[in-house]
Amino acid sequence: MKILKKAIKKALAVLGYELHSSSGERDIFINFSNLAQAYEQRLNELGIFIVANEIRSKLLVRLTGTQPAEAYFIVHALAECKDVSGVVCEFGVAQGETSALIANEIQSGNKILHLFDSFEGLSKPTKEDQLKDDIFSLGSIEAYTGTMSCPEEMVRTRLKAISFPPQRFVIHKGLIDQLISDDVSLPKAVSFAYVDFDFYEPIKLTLNFLHQTTSTGAIIIVDDYDFFSTGVKTAVDEFLEEKNASELIYECMVSNKRYGCFAVLKRKG
Ligand SMILES: C[S@@+](CC[C@H](N)C(=O)[O-])C[C@H]1O[C@@H](n2cnc3c(N)ncnc32)[C@H](O)[C@@H]1O
Repeated sequence: MKILKKAIKKALAVLGYELHSSSGERDIFINFSNLAQAYEQRLNELGIFIVANEIRSKLLVRLTGTQPAEAYFIVHALAECKDVSGVVCEFGVAQGETSALIANEIQSGNKILHLFDSFEGLSKPTKEDQLKDDIFSLGSIEAYTGTMSCPEEMVRTRLKAISFPPQRFVIHKGLIDQLISDDVSLPKAVSFAYVDFDFYEPIKLTLNFLHQTTSTGAIIIVDDYDFFSTGVKTAVDEFLEEKNASELIYECMVSNKRYGCFAVLKRKG
């Protein structure tokens, strides 16, 4: 066995590759998991109670567009508004990794998860969307139209993998402007929403829809605030200016850029 391993190592070295034992990856995961548990314990000591959950760390390491710090804001927000009436939504689902994280957090309750996506990738940018961070080096914001498209089946597979019951989620497939005007199965009350459409128009439409369907205590997290396209920040800032014009309806926390680019909107009235 040793001789075989040596021979494989030698052959790979000729090709410029190295053989690593998979325990390295396992150690990294265990370290991450320990760190996450220590962080959760610290939050609990501060009175921010997050129920321990074994699957959570596994889902956290799979996330691609959502960094761990932002993911913990999602986890925490879901715990915070678990007694607020209304469903849980994700606007912009893609491969469904964040959907799985959200579903796992509400698994023990009875809330329904509503997922919105065209599954055709990013829609057309508008004049409010200027390219701020060229994440895929495509050279222009227009070139991002249609990127990040994933088949609907991917999210179904992710939810099945964590045994999230099919009767507890609804997939709204289509462009958000059409869904908001035509879809008869839109939720009437929303307690938590994760908004991840990347561009101005779909985000502004979604925030206005959420204004009609949320109540005190509800939380909205908008991803990519002041990142990638300028339209996300514009949509959030305009929305807050309009809705908070005469009284404070939404409290807003913008993340420190060192750990992510997102805005957390808490409904106060
Ligand atoms: C950044 S990805 C979402 C990533 C996902 N939330 C995650 O954390 O893994 C954006 C998604 O929004 C969808 N999308 C973008 N604009 C849309 C629109 N106007 N209507 C419906 N879906 C849209 C795209 O198809 C894409 O799947």
